[in-house]
Amino acid sequence: MLSALNAERASLARQDPDHPLFHVAPPVGRLNDPNGLIVDSGTYHAFFQYTPEHPRKLVYWGHARSTDLVHWTYLPPAILPDSRQDRNGAYSGTAIGTDDGVELWYTGNYKDADTGEREATQCVVTTPDLRRFTKVVPPVIASQPEGYTAHFRDPQVWRDPDDPQGSYRMLLGAQREDLTGTVLLYRSSDLREWHCEGELSFPDAGGAFDRFGYMWECPNLVRLRDEESGHDRDVLIFCPQGIAPEREGFENVFPCVYMVGELVGTEFRGADGDYWEVDRGFEFYAPQVFADRARAWGRADPALLLGWAGNAGEDDQPSISTGGWVHALTAPRGLALADRRLVQRPHLPGLPLEHIGFPDSVDGDGARVAALESSRSWRFSASLAHEPGACLEMRVGADSGLVIRLSESLLEVDRSRTRYPHGGIRRVSLEPGWAGSVEVVHDRSITEIFLGGGRLAFTLRSFLEGAGSGLALGTAGGAVRVADARAARAD
Ligand code: FRU
Repeated sequence: MLSALNAERASLARQDPDHPLFHVAPPVGRLNDPNGLIVDSGTYHAFFQYTPEHPRKLVYWGHARSTDLVHWTYLPPAILPDSRQDRNGAYSGTAIGTDDGVELWYTGNYKDADTGEREATQCVVTTPDLRRFTKVVPPVIASQPEGYTAHFRDPQVWRDPDDPQGSYRMLLGAQREDLTGTVLLYRSSDLREWHCEGELSFPDAGGAFDRFGYMWECPNLVRLRDEESGHDRDVLIFCPQGIAPEREGFENVFPCVYMVGELVGTEFRGADGDYWEVDRGFEFYAPQVFADRARAWGRADPALLLGWAGNAGEDDQPSISTGGWVHALTAPRGLALADRRLVQRPHLPGLPLEHIGFPDSVDGDGARVAALESSRSWRFSASLAHEPGACLEMRVGADSGLVIRLSESLLEVDRSRTRYPHGGIRRVSLEPGWAGSVEVVHDRSITEIFLGGGRLAFTLRSFLEGAGSGLALGTAGGAVRVADARAARAD
């Protein structure tokens, strides 16, 4: 703890002009997955994988809280890797409200110093008030079941809404001994005695997920009402490692995908083998949905998701040298389902959009958005209508290197002239109607693009050149009509 606190004290991260203002980012060192997301009577708690002494690898659970999802207060780490069970890191997990408070479920990572052999255990920390945290020792689940390797981690724990007895369930990412990925389900009546129910199976998927990558990380299940059909559906979000689909997308080292179905026992019914990426951006992984302390089975309402705006193995970013920190979480997104597809809308109650005066058409060089002049942390949204062949060009930070081009059928995000050009240009084919609305959330060095009212999400780190403020819109090949322009600035 002491060395982590010393690292925080010596940190230059907050003075770094790239350190985000309203996104959760590490006080020092490295951040990865969001963990233990829970709302407690209007206060949102975001824990996160936190390596204060990066590049020395030792993962804590960092802790931040907010009442408006824009202003975050950082608290001391909640889980310290200071027991045998988590000596090599307190890995990812989730939170659940109980009668006595909240439990934080996580994976203890232990690596034998001599043999290098790994032990993965499922562990719990209890807290009456989300201020004082007590670790339960020894681990609650001491090892993986037979037939699986020690890649056995990232518990999601919730109360089964379909069980009148109110038992608890746990979903875990796992690897079979034949080195294929899967998820395991556990059940418990008291959160302490657990039995393995088996693998989650996909009876309607024609075998599509039987050999699907070598490990599934961070499984997360959320029930949503489909806005089109009115039916409740379960959405399974997970991160399969080592898949190589022969279709557009899947450019990142590991993808994060979802499928829609209905969890009945251990069967995920109705999922027909199709799956989609949650976000098409350069950086996105390991998202998690907020729990609600008062609704043990349930998620926060509306369902809210935070992701990691990062990828495994991509820590070599400009912020390491300018401030000794790397990575951030995405902005919170309200989740909905429409026609069995996920819809994600930025949910930032502390930064409400307001109507701004803006020309009702952009043609050629176009205009800067006056309301965002000199701002480096803002959001902007508008409805759009493209003339045939027209392409809208959004220059984030005016002329600072990030260019978003949007035609009716294509999104093109070009960061090749930023200070972090990794990946260069990425193109996403658009479904009809997606180009009809855009929202951009930008916060110093992170940018999130939402099209089609949230049908497409695209997250990236955007280390701009120079002052890098504001937003400018221009067009090529025709005019684009702009209606209902709104904006808000956070600085
Ligand atoms: C995903 C992940 C998890 C693991 C954690 C370790 O990014 O690899 O599977 O629990 O990060 O930091």
